Amino acid sequence: MDFRKISGEDIAYFRSLEGVRNIFTDNDNLVIAASDQTEDLRYLPEVVLQPETVEAVSAIMRYCNEHRLPVTPRGAGTGLSGGALPVFAGVVLDMKRFNKVLNVDKRNLQVVVEPGVITQELQEHVKAEGLMYPPDPASKGSCFIGGNVSENSGGPRAVKYGVVKDYVLNLEVVMPNGDVMWTGANVLKNATGYNLTQLVVGSEGTLAVITKIVLKLIPAVKHDLLMLVPFRSSIDACAAVNAIFMAGYLPSALEFMERDAIEWSMKYVQSSGVSLPDDIQAHLLIEVDGNNLDQLYKEMEAISEVVQQFDIDEILFADSHEQKEMLWTLRRKVGEAVKSNSIYKEEDTVVPRAELPELLRVIKEIGHEYGFHSVCYGHAGDGNLHVNIVKAGMSDDDWNNKLPEGIRKLFKEVVRLGGTISGEHGIGLVQKNYMDIAFSASQLQLMKEIKKVFDPNGILNPGKIFAA
Ligand code: LAC
Ligand code: ZN
Repeated sequence: MDFRKISGEDIAYFRSLEGVRNIFTDNDNLVIAASDQTEDLRYLPEVVLQPETVEAVSAIMRYCNEHRLPVTPRGAGTGLSGGALPVFAGVVLDMKRFNKVLNVDKRNLQVVVEPGVITQELQEHVKAEGLMYPPDPASKGSCFIGGNVSENSGGPRAVKYGVVKDYVLNLEVVMPNGDVMWTGANVLKNATGYNLTQLVVGSEGTLAVITKIVLKLIPAVKHDLLMLVPFRSSIDACAAVNAIFMAGYLPSALEFMERDAIEWSMKYVQSSGVSLPDDIQAHLLIEVDGNNLDQLYKEMEAISEVVQQFDIDEILFADSHEQKEMLWTLRRKVGEAVKSNSIYKEEDTVVPRAELPELLRVIKEIGHEYGFHSVCYGHAGDGNLHVNIVKAGMSDDDWNNKLPEGIRKLFKEVVRLGGTISGEHGIGLVQKNYMDIAFSASQLQLMKEIKKVFDPNGILNPGKIFAA
């Protein structure tokens, strides 16, 4: 794709708009907008715009569409597939000024929120009203709800409560040509026409810019219990996941961490909260929640009996709020810990849950064949494993040329197992060359046609999802 450079005239136009709080062209601000959390990638935009009204977003989009300028929407920059990277430079549309919770509708258990609200702040806001918004990505303390909607994020609680898409009822969006519209209605059921709302959810900022979000809420859950189960075999840990479900239990989180994951995380946050005997290969972090504490204790007991059928060490039952927080911090910080340890690539494989042991076996086998070390962790209850491939001792040549073949092979195996190549991080920039593994030519063609209907000039977040 060929885009012209941003000119002084373009900047003058952006400056003439009301409702654009900041216009940055200085190097420091361009550098901030050049990266997200994806590997060590960096693409400098030419200008960063921070609009604060829908009208301003609309005017910016209309202008960029007419002048064929690329626009990359940006949330908090915590993405892991490069969705916010301005690979064709141009405009970064930084949505951080859209930072208000507009209305908690207690009568209908809904919230209307702007996209630049931090997810955890949204959760705390509705919790104060006795309500709960469950999806909780690991980056919940810094990511924006708009980014979560754009990526259809998940997180640990998805196993019981579902992912972001399950909570999005309606969206206000600005189309690439500047038109402003709502995608649906603020209702729990909707059989009226095509589901535009869900088309925009997970579209990674390629179809429209989200300016308001209506989310479904549920009554806040009162209690939760947490335990950490050490396994001597990581394949066993994966097998135990399914055994828990087969025994009839539905935990509110069921997370898997290979030994390196928890060990590196402990080093990273300087915690010694978990003892790690030499023979432990992996842990499951298991949470149950509900309103009846006695019942939860019984459920925890029953689940611990299920896992005792496997070769495990002593279970750690978190007995205080602090201990729960410590365990959750260890889990949430794994990604950052791996990143701080080595150059790495993050894969986001997902398979039907019962295939998890086979997925882990295949990952290790392919790693052996292609000479890479992987640290695996993630949302085992969803069959979703994050495979962090660390560069460590790999040569640049192997890293750049041999590894992509290994990843290709891994993704083919994932698809063979009935899975797909991203569970919650999206395709963005870094997985787009593998889309042909998950989809046929006609499926990809259909998606590209949809993109064209929304964005005929291809100005919105170009270079993402599709290889060409
Ligand atoms: C996590 C992020 C990487 O689960 O998705 O920690
Ligand atoms: Zn995750």
